[in-house]
Formats: sequence, structure tokens, C-alpha cells
Amino acid sequence: MLETMPQCSSSCHLEARSGLAALQRLARPFTCLPKQCKRTHSAHQRLVHCSSEGHIECSSARAGISRRAAMSQMAMLSFLATTFRGPRAYAAEGPQALQGDVKAAVMQAFRKAADKGKAPVLLRLAFHDAATHEVSAGDGGANASVQYEFSRPENTGLKRGWRVIEQVMQNLKGTVAEGRVSYADLIALGGAYAVSVTGGPVIDVPIGRRDAASADPADRLPAETLSAEALRLNFEAKGLSAQELIALSGAHTLGNKGFGDPLTFDNQYYKSLLQKPWEDPTNTMGSMIGLPSDHVLPDDSKCRPSIETYAVDQQRFFQDFGAAYTKMTSLGARWS
Ligand code: HEM
Repeated sequence: MLETMPQCSSSCHLEARSGLAALQRLARPFTCLPKQCKRTHSAHQRLVHCSSEGHIECSSARAGISRRAAMSQMAMLSFLATTFRGPRAYAAEGPQALQGDVKAAVMQAFRKAADKGKAPVLLRLAFHDAATHEVSAGDGGANASVQYEFSRPENTGLKRGWRVIEQVMQNLKGTVAEGRVSYADLIALGGAYAVSVTGGPVIDVPIGRRDAASADPADRLPAETLSAEALRLNFEAKGLSAQELIALSGAHTLGNKGFGDPLTFDNQYYKSLLQKPWEDPTNTMGSMIGLPSDHVLPDDSKCRPSIETYAVDQQRFFQDFGAAYTKMTSLGARWS
């Protein structure tokens, strides 16, 4: 019997599964769908969650696993199933579209819990939850572990955003959406809500993330003192390109760093990066605009082209931000 694999939310086509359902399917054959492989394998499985492009290859040599390997991998899956807690009511695996009555209830819960003024902190919270992911280590990511990480200096002030998420979860009680979304989902959805409520694009963020039960590894977030190259490397380690770094950094158009209206999501960030008001001696407030990590971007040859594009093409920025945000909020996620 052939099964259709759920599609990974990033651009490669690998299965993203963990937990008991994967255990049950171990012995069943299926078709493997990564770009370079169209085979049907018996007893084939993947323990590695696909959160960025191309970091798992599908080789038929690895596909035929021994009984002993299957047993040890089953033990690992069993561990994963007990380590990650997820929303209760999922029948299917992998990212699920948020739609219909459940979507309406979630949106209503956000509207009730968060006015526009909470948009900046909600968007930053989504970044800080997901950006603990590291591809090579295969851990961290969009799993609501940020709730255990507020004592870290980089997360100062983010508790305000977490309280909104808790309130949204509370608001969902007794609605059709109760038990259908995890905290990790709500953090990801909160950032998208923040973007749309401030005039940015509507981003369809899938649901189904499992919540972690403890903190992610420390020292994964980029410091504001990093050079452009170090910022690129930091994002690359998470599976994000230079173009995605630039698209996502456009989030700084929200908040009080001086990139236009603090509560309007637009492309003013990129216009300012090209104008460099912080270098203008006649602009007394210029030095207050942006972070050092913003200032270094326009002089980097790998970052500059996207900055120039987004400065003149807001639609393109919206489109690329949406794609990069969806990817960011899937980093390292274990799906129910
Ligand atoms: C590229 C590396 C990044 C660094 C070094 C960085 C650092 C910072 C710092 C230090 C602040 C606080 C500024 C202040 O108020 O003094 C901040 C604010 C903010 N960051 Fe980032 N950030 C980065 C990328 C991102 C990304 C990718 C997102 C979201 C997709 C994001 C969203 C935000 C938002 C919305 C705020 C304003 C928060 C508020 O006013 O409450 N940042 N960032």
C-alpha cells in the first residue's frame, strides 16, 4: 500500500513526523518524496524532522533498515513522543491548515486579547521562540520553549507577549478551537496576527506544533553587536538565507527603533537602511534610529540587493516576508 507523505512546510518534500503515529507506521511501506528520490521503501522511516531545505538526503541504502535499527529508532520515537506535548485533538500528522470555524475562533480570541499596541512584542516573541533552532544540532525551534527562557537577557520584555498568548488560550476555552492549537501554534499565529493588524500581509500559518516541556539551548539568538557576516552565519545555522534574513529583519519596521510609524508594517525599514540617517550629522535624532545590527546590513554585498528591492517594492517585501515568516515559524517544529 502506498501512502502520501504530508508535505514539509519548508520547500523540500520530506515527511515530518514524530511520536506514536510514526511508531505505528514503522512496518508499513510508503513512497518517499524528497526531490531526488521517488522510491517506495519498506520499513523506511525518518527520525529527523525536516525544518529547512536539503538537510536530509533520501538514499535507498539508508532506506532499507535492519530490524535492530528499527528497534532503536522506535525507542527514540517513543522518547520524542513523551518529550513533546501537543494539542489534543489531532487526527492527522504534519502541518495542518487553520481554517473554518477553528480559524474564526482563534482570530476572535486574538482580537479579544491583543490590541494593535501589542503587535511589536507579539512579532518579536515569535522570532525568539523559533530562532533557538540549529539545523546541525537538530534541536530548538518553534515549540513554545520561550516560556521557560524569560530569564535570558535577550528575552527581556517578552513576558508581556507571552501573557497575551496565555490569554488567547484562555479565550479559546469552550470554543470549537479548544484543544486544537498548541501554545507554539499561538505564538506563531500571534506574530502573523501582529503583521496583519498593522497593515502588513495576511500570512497563513499552519498549526500542529508540539510544545516543548523545557527550555531550548541558550546563545542561539543573534546579538545586536554582530557584523553582517556573523548575522548571515547565525541565520544560515537555522536554515535561513541572507535574503530571508533581510526579509525577516523588516519586522523592525514595528516598534520604537525609528523606522517610520511604530505600529505600521511597511517597507520604511529598507528606505531608512539606504538613507542611513544615523550617519547624517544634521539629523540630531538620526543616531537613535535602528540597531547596530540594522546599520551593518546595507554595506554587506549579500544583503544589499534584497534591501534595494524591498525599498522600492513593498508588495515584493510582503510576499517574501510571508514566505520567510512561515518558514521561520516551522523551524525545528515537531508536528502532531
Ligand atoms: C537580525 C537579527 C536581529 C537582532 C540582532 C534583533 C535585535 C532586536 C533588539 C535588540 C530589539 C529591541 C530594540 C529595543 O527596543 O531596544 C529588537 C526589537 C524587535 N525585533 Fe528584533 N532582532 C533581529 C531580528 C528580528 C526578527 C527576524 C524579527 C521578527 C521576524 C524581529 C522582531 C522584532 C520586533 C517586532 C521588535 C520590536 C519589539 C518591541 O518594540 O516590543 N527581530 N530586536
